[in-house]
Amino acid sequence: MPRRILTTSALPYVNGHIHLGHLVEYLQTDIWVRFQRLAGNRCVYVCADDTHGTATMIRARQEGRSEQEIIRDMAKAHQDDFAAFDIRFDHYGSTDSSSNQVLVNEFWAALRAAGRVVEKDVTQLFDPKAGTFLADRFVRGTCPNPACRSPDQPGDSCDKCGTTYSPTDLIDPVSTLSGAKPELRSARHYFVQLEPFHAFLDQWTQSGAVHPDIAKWLKNTFLADALRDWDVSRPAPYFGFEIPDAPGNYFYVWLDAPIGYIAATRDWCNATGEDYRRWWKDPSCEVHHFIGKDITYFHTLFWPAMLQTAGYALPKQVHIHGFLTVDGEKMSKSKGTFIRARTYLEHLDPAYLRYFYASKLTAKAEDIDLNLEEFAAKVNSDLIGKVVNLASRTARFIPALSAVYPDDGGLFAAGAAESAAIAQAYDEGDFNQAMRRIMALADRANEYVEKAAPWALKKSAATNPADAERLAQVCTVSLNLFRQLAGYLAPVLPRLADQAGTLLGRPIAAWSNADAPVVGVPVAGFARMLDRVDPAKVAAMVAGGRLEDPAPAKAAAATGSSTAPITVPAHEVELTVPLDEIETESDSAALRDEPLAAVIDFAAFSRVDLRVAEVLAAEDVPKAKKIIKLTLGLGGSERRTVFAGIKSAYKPEQLVGRLIVFVANLEPRKMSFGVSEGMALAAGLGEQEIFLLSPDTGAKPGMRIH
Ligand code: MSP
Ligand code: ZN
Repeated sequence: MPRRILTTSALPYVNGHIHLGHLVEYLQTDIWVRFQRLAGNRCVYVCADDTHGTATMIRARQEGRSEQEIIRDMAKAHQDDFAAFDIRFDHYGSTDSSSNQVLVNEFWAALRAAGRVVEKDVTQLFDPKAGTFLADRFVRGTCPNPACRSPDQPGDSCDKCGTTYSPTDLIDPVSTLSGAKPELRSARHYFVQLEPFHAFLDQWTQSGAVHPDIAKWLKNTFLADALRDWDVSRPAPYFGFEIPDAPGNYFYVWLDAPIGYIAATRDWCNATGEDYRRWWKDPSCEVHHFIGKDITYFHTLFWPAMLQTAGYALPKQVHIHGFLTVDGEKMSKSKGTFIRARTYLEHLDPAYLRYFYASKLTAKAEDIDLNLEEFAAKVNSDLIGKVVNLASRTARFIPALSAVYPDDGGLFAAGAAESAAIAQAYDEGDFNQAMRRIMALADRANEYVEKAAPWALKKSAATNPADAERLAQVCTVSLNLFRQLAGYLAPVLPRLADQAGTLLGRPIAAWSNADAPVVGVPVAGFARMLDRVDPAKVAAMVAGGRLEDPAPAKAAAATGSSTAPITVPAHEVELTVPLDEIETESDSAALRDEPLAAVIDFAAFSRVDLRVAEVLAAEDVPKAKKIIKLTLGLGGSERRTVFAGIKSAYKPEQLVGRLIVFVANLEPRKMSFGVSEGMALAAGLGEQEIFLLSPDTGAKPGMRIH
């Protein structure tokens, strides 16, 4: 029985252009969808632009245009980019559609009827000049931590000391929208209670709907405590849908965004004459969401609770991927590695990126690195050297395939025998494994061709009929193995699969497990399939990335801002602009940024007990986006726990085993995730600019630093 599958990718924000980070997700989903279709399943793929929120409103004001104009332009830009990467949606909608509004009201009515809506007053910073309440990221000010007091820190946590706080705790707060001093104002908000869903979510998250690693993480973090009420309303002015029974209040963007998945399906159904309930209310249909790890919370807690309340089917699976780094670092505008889809397309073939991401993607939410040297080398060695070469070295040598498939030493059969394993890897989202299996087959095919040396046979074929016969046989094998590999790669490289089908006059239309070798047919003229990656073009792309302007809305949101990628959004944080896209300018002189402090006497210095410490363990703190938990050894069994705000510059695994400098007698500080018993010393201004200190070789844990 073919499966019926409704697939979505997260809805990209209307505020920014599609970049290489987004493409991890849309390519992953497109590959998966193409595989499902080749495998004979009915698979529909919908997406939409995520349009609402403060950022859209602010941008419209700044540009003197309506929100709708921005939405229209960006919808076109997004869809052009996706199409150019061969990402094919059945429908691409907008959360600002009437179909979405109807559904949002239906969900709201269901939440109300279930008694899940409560009202509370919320005191928030308000910008009197811009006339709007300020989400955390629109406020900056001096860190409230008495030991730190660093100026110009973000609204949610300090880049310098890592303390997390609420924007109302900031000293001398400033609105980044207008520069005005925000005032505290209170307004009525509507909340959805989540705790009544706790048992249901415990069960659902452990039911196989998410990868076991994610299930475990949810269980140990959010689901370990009572679930807090979710603030789903924003007072005017706000760009969104007005709450029908609370005029002057609007649905928070994250309430209407996922409902956009259903609205897009419904629009597609209206256009095709299908019934949307067959896709969203019928347990025989599987709903699969693809998302990045930063929005896990919304899709694995809020969303199932909403679906359940409104009587919709729960997702069969939420596939969660990690974040893209380029050359091992967060994408960076100054380094030119913050690359838009458009910029990539000006220089490079989309097939390269499709293959490269496929080779990196697994079912786990691990970050993916686009190392640009590896990118060129891998595409050239795998796609050109191993796959396309099978055709380009043999297709021109023969006018037609042999009438009978020759003895190939079992190669074609061995390839066919891999079909099920490769299919399973695709289905499970382990594209890395699928690519490895395919390339292992390609290696064997190339060994065969190398040994048979058709180029040598070609020379002797004119005078030696036996060699002519052998040449036809070798090329028949090579071209059939090429076609088999192109079939396995079809979800990733649809154009190559089309070319392979044309070359041998038999299109690749379905997953090729039952395929027999093609024989007897003419070989079409060999058209160039894929060029080698030219490293000069990769460099040109990076140079192009450096010139790019940030999207206007992001520039507005980012005024002087620097924020690390978030893995878990805080409950009330508004995530209209992905925080990972905001980068700091920290190249100014160190002394100017931090003038030398006043003189202290030696006694004052000697009260500070600095020690050499060994990092015994280092781990992410899931609830804190900037913090790594360090277990420090001071020699013997002396241990200290320190929460260090260094995650933007270090990975936990880089730290274990190294020696650092540690303030051992600092008053322990209670943070929301534990008590920090001292401080690890580092130089720099925060973000990537954090440099931990270490002693010279020979120092031992516990030694005092004088
Ligand atoms: N609008 C929300 C999603 C709403 S879904 C109901 C959003 N938009 S986004 O434009 O910021 O991101 C869209 C998707 O792209 C998300 O799944 C996000 O995780 C993913 N990525 C954005 N930047 C990324 C990287 N740098 N790397 C990998 N994926 C990234 O979130
Ligand atoms: Zn601080």
